[in-house]
Amino acid sequence: MTNLAVQLNRLHLQNPILVASGTFGYAKEMTAFVNFPAIGGIIPKTVTPQPRPGNPTPRTVETASGMLNSIGLDNDGFDLFLTDKLPYLLSLGTSVIVNIAAKSTEEFRLMAERLNDFPGIAAVELNISCPNVSGGVDFGTNPEQAAQVVRTVRESCGIPVIAKLTPNVTSVVPVAQAVADAGCDAVSLVNTFQGMAVNWKKQRPVLGNILGGLSGPAIKPLALRIVYQVAQAVDVPIIGIGGIQSIDDVMEFLVTGASAVQVGTANFYNPGVSCELVKQLPAALAQLNASSVAEVVRTLKIQK
Ligand code: FUM
Repeated sequence: MTNLAVQLNRLHLQNPILVASGTFGYAKEMTAFVNFPAIGGIIPKTVTPQPRPGNPTPRTVETASGMLNSIGLDNDGFDLFLTDKLPYLLSLGTSVIVNIAAKSTEEFRLMAERLNDFPGIAAVELNISCPNVSGGVDFGTNPEQAAQVVRTVRESCGIPVIAKLTPNVTSVVPVAQAVADAGCDAVSLVNTFQGMAVNWKKQRPVLGNILGGLSGPAIKPLALRIVYQVAQAVDVPIIGIGGIQSIDDVMEFLVTGASAVQVGTANFYNPGVSCELVKQLPAALAQLNASSVAEVVRTLKIQK
């Protein structure tokens, strides 16, 4: 028997295959494709204190081996999430990691306090890294501000805390170190890379918001590089994100330093991919003579 369970400080997952925020809706729309109890967990779309209409259209565009999005944190707000979305999510038989964003640490605190009323939540992921919204939601570019948000949420709720970090900084390491010191249980590495698409015939940007976040296989080497750099420098469990679509991708992130992974853009073109990866994981671990996920995490051999 292979042991697929992973422990990221206070967060226990039955297996390391999660689905990434913003790529899985609020799960209802994925019912036909995914056996929810089989996967490691679901991270629904980011929710903010108040409803947000999101950015002007077009909001997505396909790129070479990837996609750009500029959704702008479109969501119905925290109150409606708690009453209309969360009870359904918590009934699905898998871990639910609520993803929140806010414009101030005080707003983060208020949201975190209310999550205490829902004991079934596995963790809260702090989206301090959205590249598509201006005005205070990109705390993740500043180590002190990122740490302050983590500290505030940690003090306000008893739920494990994950900080989702941006790659759009010179180095992610100081931010990862700061949020680890502030007490987060894990870091999600990485959110999207800021990019742009242009229609030269119209001489216009393609996205309504001009800039967007690049995801998909195009960013996998960049995300792996950041997981590697943080794993070498910071003692904090890592959840790898970035172009994961195959079991080889999963294994690359695990050996490089991730204890779990999030499948994101692949859900759009293969909505059942998360279940496929869970099924394929034991055979891949066996190729490294491992009978548990923990045995392969951070086992990259470095020759210098
Ligand atoms: O635009 C968006 O809603 C994207 C969010 C994110 O990348 O965190």
